[in-house]
Amino acid sequence: MATPARKKVLLMGKSGSGKTSMRSVIFSNYTARDTRRLGATIDVEQSAVRFLGGLVLNLWDCGGQNAFVDNYLSSQKDTIFSNVAVLIYVFDITSTEWEGDLRYFEDILFALRENSPEAGIWVLINKMDLVDKEDPKRLKFEQRKNDLLNVDNQVRKTLKDEGKIDNIREVLRCFPSSIWDESLYKAWSSIIHTLIPNISLITSHLTYLRDLCLAVEVVLFEADTFLVIAKSGSPLDCDPSDLDQIELKNGAKELDQQRFEKISEIVKGFKKTCSRNHEQYHGFEAKFDECTVILEPLTKNTYIMIISVDPRAETGALLYNVHQSSAHMA
Ligand code: GTP
Repeated sequence: MATPARKKVLLMGKSGSGKTSMRSVIFSNYTARDTRRLGATIDVEQSAVRFLGGLVLNLWDCGGQNAFVDNYLSSQKDTIFSNVAVLIYVFDITSTEWEGDLRYFEDILFALRENSPEAGIWVLINKMDLVDKEDPKRLKFEQRKNDLLNVDNQVRKTLKDEGKIDNIREVLRCFPSSIWDESLYKAWSSIIHTLIPNISLITSHLTYLRDLCLAVEVVLFEADTFLVIAKSGSPLDCDPSDLDQIELKNGAKELDQQRFEKISEIVKGFKKTCSRNHEQYHGFEAKFDECTVILEPLTKNTYIMIISVDPRAETGALLYNVHQSSAHMA
C-alpha cells in the first residue's frame, strides 16, 4: 500500500482567536457550543488526521499566549517553521489590539517565508458572527484584509531586497469565518482542497459522472469531516446573463455560493444526532418537482452528492451509477 503523503499544517494566532475551536468542530465532532469549555492551549498540541486514506495532516495547534509565541519566534523557530505545507493564521475580528496583532503576524510571516518559502498562507478572520449585525457590509473585514495584504507585500519585498527569497511567491488568502455557521466549512474546504494530491483528476471524474447522470452538479464530501473535497462544476454557476429562461425559472440566479458548505454543516449536525441516538447516517435521497438529489457513500472515506434537474433522471438510476462508480474506485 502506498505511504500516505504527510503535510504539516500550522495553526497560529493570538490566544482566544478560536484555533482549537475550529480544529475541534471540524475534526473532533464538537458543536460550536461545546467549544466554550475549551481551555487555553499550552505550547503546541500536535495531532495527526488521516484524510481520504492517502493524506495525513499533521496539525500543529500553537497556543497563542504571548510567551509561547515569543518562544516560537526564538528558540523553537527552526522546529516550528520548517517543512510547513500550510499556515492557517486566525484573527479575532473583535480584537481591540489590531496594531499589536499585526506586528505578531508580521514576525510570523518573516519566520515562515524564510523557513518554508513554498508554504500556502491562509488567514481566517474569525468570530464574524459577533460583528455581522452592526456591519452587514463587512467593511471592517475588508479593512483588515487590506492591512494584512499590505503586511504580506511588505514582508515579501523586504525578503526579496535582502536576497532571501526570489520574486515568485503566492500571496496570502483571507476568509471571513465563524464556528457558528457554514463559513468555517467554506474556509477549511478551500484550504484542504489545495492539499489533496490529484485533485484535478478527481474533479474531472466528477464532471464525467455529472454528464453521465444528466446531472447539473456532483460534489464529493470527506466522510468524517464532511468538508467539500471537490465539485464537478455546474453549468448553473455561470454568469446569470448566460442562463436560459428555464434555468432562471428554476432559481439558478439565486444560487447560494456557500450552498454545499451549508450542506456540510447540516449533515454533520444530523450525523451527530444520529450517533447520539445510536443510529448511523447512511444516505439521503429526495425529489422536489423536477429536481432529484442523492447524497450517498461513495468510498470508505467519501460521500457523493448528485443533483439533477432533468425529469428523465430517476433516483434509482442515479443510485445505480453511484454504486457502479464505487465498485470502480474500490
Ligand atoms: P489558545 O489556545 O489560548 O491559543 O486560544 P484559541 O485560539 O485556541 O481559542 P479557543 O479555540 O480556545 O477559543 C476561545 C473562545 O472563543 C471559546 O470560548 C470559543 O467558544 C470562542 N470562539 C471560537 N470561535 C468563535 C466564533 O467563530 N464565534 C464566537 N462567537 N466565538 C468563538
